[in-house]
Amino acid sequence: MAALLQVENLHTAYGLSKVLFGISAEIDAGECVVLLGRNGVGKSTTIKSIMGLLTPAQGRVVWKGQDITGWAPHRIARAGIGFVPEDRRVFPELSVWENLDIAARAARRPGHWTMDAVYDLFPQLASMRNRMGGYLSGGEQQMLTIARTLMGNPELLLLDEPSEGLAPLVVDMLLEKIGELKRGGLTILLAEQGLEFSLALADRVYVLEKGTVRHSGPSRELREDRALADRLLAL
Ligand SMILES: Nc1ncnc2c1ncn2[C@@H]1O[C@H](COP(=O)(O)OP(=O)(O)OP(=O)(O)O)[C@@H](O)[C@H]1O
Ligand SMILES: [Mg+2]
Repeated sequence: MAALLQVENLHTAYGLSKVLFGISAEIDAGECVVLLGRNGVGKSTTIKSIMGLLTPAQGRVVWKGQDITGWAPHRIARAGIGFVPEDRRVFPELSVWENLDIAARAARRPGHWTMDAVYDLFPQLASMRNRMGGYLSGGEQQMLTIARTLMGNPELLLLDEPSEGLAPLVVDMLLEKIGELKRGGLTILLAEQGLEFSLALADRVYVLEKGTVRHSGPSRELREDRALADRLLAL
């Protein structure tokens, strides 16, 4: 059976500056796959190319057998791909509740994720539902951004460096929550720099380097061979 998402030979540039040089990857339903790599290797560019925020010069993005390359982001979202950007853009002047309400109104896909369901997942958000987005900590903003995206009831969740810049305890909490989403059957594509965070969640990894896939395989390989993992991330 074909993969849920197929990324084929993506070449993406910013103007004249080429960044991706033939990225290919596949994600099956129910998998958690990580794009692992250091600063500037092209993780976000890959995710944005999937989401329609950047148009690849070459290559295809195939979702459930349909070529969605060049589709507008809102159309891709409606087709079932949810995106949590690395910069966690919550509305600072709106309350937690209002941030979620906007997402609820924009959501065109019915499903499990309602305001009550995301409050169940993140009780902390429920207890601060009237707080302004601008007064949330980094971890709380990350929860809110994930919650908002879930309300679109995606089949695939693209998570761009959710742990970036967060304190260790907050990172552990996020790990737990993302694990819960995975166990609930959600398919997840994660972009990450952190090896431990990645290996704790991933079924498979693609290690990126300078806009190419340097290594791909089950995350078990890297869990059992830390020397290989270190080598792959060393450059
Ligand atoms: N808007 C942009 N204009 C020009 N170059 C860009 C732009 N965004 C990213 N780049 C460049 O593209 C390359 C890949 O960037 P990208 O953001 O995809 O990396 P990343 O793997 O997500 O890194 P990070 O871990 O820092 O988020 C980098 O060299 C970066 O400087
Ligand atoms: Mg990035």
